[in-house]
Amino acid sequence: MVFDPTPIRRCVCFNVTFEELSEAGVATLEEASERFGCGTKCGTCRPYITKMLVTGETAFSIDADVSQAA
Ligand code: FES
Repeated sequence: MVFDPTPIRRCVCFNVTFEELSEAGVATLEEASERFGCGTKCGTCRPYITKMLVTGETAFSIDADVSQAA
């Protein structure tokens, strides 16, 4: 098995990848919640989706700095 340095790639609660959100043209966290449910259950994905919307990244390391993200 190959080590994945960026294992955070999806909203686990709704099994939606950040790449899928990006490809769907999601522009806001609210839109991700309304269309896919992302962020409406445990909320762990919320800062990562927010960072994705700013940077365009769709995969994050476990120590990614998302402290400035909502
Ligand atoms: S991981 Fe997205 S709501 Fe739980």
